[in-house]
Amino acid sequence: MIIEKIKKDFLAELAAAENSAKLEELEQDFFSRRSGRMTEAMKSMKELDEDAKKEFGTLINELKREMVVKLEEKKNILDNIELQGAIANEAIDITAPKLPAEPRGHTHPNTQVQNDLEDFFVSMGFMVLDGPELESDYYNFTAVNIPLSHPARDMQDTFYIKGHGMDSDSPWVMRTHTSTMQVRAMKKYGAPLRMITPGKCYRNEATDVRHEHTFYQLEGVVINKDITFAHLKGVLESVAKHLYGAETRLRLRPKFYPFVEPGVNGEVACFLCKGNGCRLCKQTGWLEIFGAGMIHPNVLKEGNIDPNVYQGFAFGLGLTRLVMLKYGIEDVRLLESGDLRFLEQF
Ligand code: FA5
Repeated sequence: MIIEKIKKDFLAELAAAENSAKLEELEQDFFSRRSGRMTEAMKSMKELDEDAKKEFGTLINELKREMVVKLEEKKNILDNIELQGAIANEAIDITAPKLPAEPRGHTHPNTQVQNDLEDFFVSMGFMVLDGPELESDYYNFTAVNIPLSHPARDMQDTFYIKGHGMDSDSPWVMRTHTSTMQVRAMKKYGAPLRMITPGKCYRNEATDVRHEHTFYQLEGVVINKDITFAHLKGVLESVAKHLYGAETRLRLRPKFYPFVEPGVNGEVACFLCKGNGCRLCKQTGWLEIFGAGMIHPNVLKEGNIDPNVYQGFAFGLGLTRLVMLKYGIEDVRLLESGDLRFLEQF
């Protein structure tokens, strides 16, 4: 009978429809008003007698209801599968559950003070340079007036590179100070010059509360005609006041560095004992935060600058010490310890 045949065909084709386009074709095939198989079957009723027409009408309406329900079910299933496929191809899965908030890091206290000082020096017309941490023996020592046999080398023992030690033709060192950039900058930019260069330095130290094997310095160089020691003092005093407040006292005392003449070291009152003397300041009441001085003529010459025309001053701030002073850190070794309990306080 025609109704049974339609039902059998419909169920087989429904099972085979694997996407919504196929399902739509199937719907048209059976229900299209013009040529759908159900429409054709309805039309064929005309030829039946009254009783048969009634029976056929009931059966075909039942089948129609059943088919509509089955079509709807299949449509839902296919829609769901297609939605899942679309979601899987999406770059952002909007259905994913919210992730727990990850703890966020922040800049290291060294970096915070470095960034602050870079802004401060830029506001005074300095440029900011970057230099290599693995350095030639020449730029670390010889170029800044510390020849091979000079005893000042002993003050800055460092780490050497296997195969490139002091017995090789071109010794390499982990730089012991940022003064390596003095002659590099002079050769590259000439005079007049106003630059700072912050960065990591290394020394073979017996570490203690004030000395680390890895620490930060911030070097500065100013070269022009008529630069005097008063300019040096003015710049470094304004740095100390910028960092620690207008009341800050700065003490300059003569100190020998081969690359300056005259040379000084700069100290500020110890934050821990307020100048009374403690283990941090070796009972002196003062903490050394930089070395500085008027650039030695030999260094200017090495940088191709005529010392008869130009003078300048240079300073090497112990950036790590500045951080200790700013935040009241009593042991320098905490800064490179990687201990989150310490770092999270900043
Ligand atoms: C120098 O390194 C010179 N290059 C500074 C300089 C530059 C002098 C330009 C003149 C002209 P010194 O070794 O004193 O100098 O170090 C400078 C500062 O770095 C010190 O005042 C101190 O604050 C810091 N420093 C030195 N060694 C260490 C260390 N092991 N750990 C932490 N900070 C250090």
